Amino acid sequence: MPFTADKDTFHAHLAANAKTGFTVHYYGATVSSWTVNGHEQLFLSKKAILNGTKAIRIPLVFPQFGTVATSKLPQHGFARCSFWKLTQLTESGDQLAATFTLTPDQVDPALRALWDYKFELAYDVTLDGAAGTLKTALRVKNFEADRTFDFTWLLHTYLRVPTLSGLEVQGLSGFSYTDKTRQLQTFNQSGAITITEEVDRVFPSVTPITAPLQVVVGGKPIASIERTPGKGSNGFADVVVWNPWADKAKGMADFGDDEYHEMVCVEVGDVANPVKVGPGEVREAGQVIRAVAAIAKL
Ligand code: BG6
Repeated sequence: MPFTADKDTFHAHLAANAKTGFTVHYYGATVSSWTVNGHEQLFLSKKAILNGTKAIRIPLVFPQFGTVATSKLPQHGFARCSFWKLTQLTESGDQLAATFTLTPDQVDPALRALWDYKFELAYDVTLDGAAGTLKTALRVKNFEADRTFDFTWLLHTYLRVPTLSGLEVQGLSGFSYTDKTRQLQTFNQSGAITITEEVDRVFPSVTPITAPLQVVVGGKPIASIERTPGKGSNGFADVVVWNPWADKAKGMADFGDDEYHEMVCVEVGDVANPVKVGPGEVREAGQVIRAVAAIAKL
């Protein structure tokens, strides 16, 4: 597998096409770039802070989504602000796969003390050049002798989009959601989601898990996300859709004021109900992101 690595990043691309590849920052195991024949699929802010002092946007959320009144863990937990290790690389035909792992000794002791369990978290990143997909999966193992632990987790994907004008997130119509921009009130989603203001919607139990979530612009599909099952799980149950819009963007030091036009977050995870994992048990869930527009342009 053609790859380059330094102390901060790992980059791999197809042997037959250097324009199709991905980059991961060890800090947060953040997939900061995924290109399909030269077309970037993910949004990374021009103001992103990449020196390990602030979580890079496009994070892995574990062991806590958001903030929780009864927990002192920081927003979205500690996985995104810990240095992960590359532990496996495989190549097979058009597929490149890398696995990154996080264990308690890699977590800041002050944060680890807030969720103090023996665990191993693995993150598999698999590029399929022929299919135009990136599959990412999280897998956690409980190494405690007799303690069950629980957590919430989520893949916080920032999709790069050409414009918000005419953009729709499809696949959530008919489901209820908690609106974080409206005092956590519950609403019913009718039709596709359009983005004309800050959007921060948490959809619990979006079924069936196999149904794709699609981003469409001006009627043309841009990307789709499909949730995948794994060991001990039928797949992530919940979906979050987020765009900060203008005011919030201005308040974020690591995000350009006007960049909210270039992205939408479609996030899959288990956030409404914590996942419980008993001693020795494993839970795994993932997603496949399909670069529909880039494939069409090939
Ligand atoms: C989303 C949350 O998942 O992440 C939002 O629903 C939050 O409420 C957003 O603002 C970004 O979070 P952060 O901590 O990376 O700025």
